[in-house]
Amino acid sequence: MKDYEELSEKAAEILMKQLESKPDSVIGLATGGTPIGMYRQLVSRFKREEISFARVTAFNLDEYIGLGKEQPESFYSYMEHHFFGHVDIPVASRHIPDGMAENLEGACEAYESSIEASGGIDLQVVGIGQNGHIGFNEPGTSFQSRTHVTELSASTRRANAKYFDVKEMPEQAITMGLQTIMKARSIVLLAYGHEKRDALAQLRTGKITGSFPASCLHEHPNVTVLYGEESEGEG
Ligand code: PGA
Repeated sequence: MKDYEELSEKAAEILMKQLESKPDSVIGLATGGTPIGMYRQLVSRFKREEISFARVTAFNLDEYIGLGKEQPESFYSYMEHHFFGHVDIPVASRHIPDGMAENLEGACEAYESSIEASGGIDLQVVGIGQNGHIGFNEPGTSFQSRTHVTELSASTRRANAKYFDVKEMPEQAITMGLQTIMKARSIVLLAYGHEKRDALAQLRTGKITGSFPASCLHEHPNVTVLYGEESEGEG
């Protein structure tokens, strides 16, 4: 069982290896509590000049609808704060769905097209929700889904409420679809903490079902799952 630092280091190493073998990789990125340590590791390695992201293209999994770039809870702000603001990925190569787009459907289609135009995602980082969501693909989402607008489930809104003033928690998001994620050439799933234990146990049963979206990953040939838990007495 990995502690948080180990998990973060391992995840950062997977990204480093990807960039060593292909410096112009297309990387799919995730937000949430879990990948913060991975970003911290990558930023330190960048500062020590062990790695450059200058040729990387990045696509984030999702964004809340109705949150502007300036709002601290937006994933745009998260990415600036934890990663983009500290490394050399060119601004034009950083992509996050636009939760403020007037035409949300159009924005989803454009997002999907720009992933395709980039040559497709080489390595996608995902987290997992307690309900088995990946990205914001909530239970019941079609395995054929592409980037789309989604309603956040009660479970997701509860889990993420800690980042918001209660009344301001968005109800919708734009997310890459399950098919979008599955098209990535490789996937790394990060999960940390006892509240993810049941989701991991469910994933490990190997049962593929629409009511547990992450189970689609069993049909992908190249997925690495990194899971860690607090040691006793911690958090
Ligand atoms: P996290 O959740 O905030 O615990 O990393 C990830 C997710 O719900 O997808």
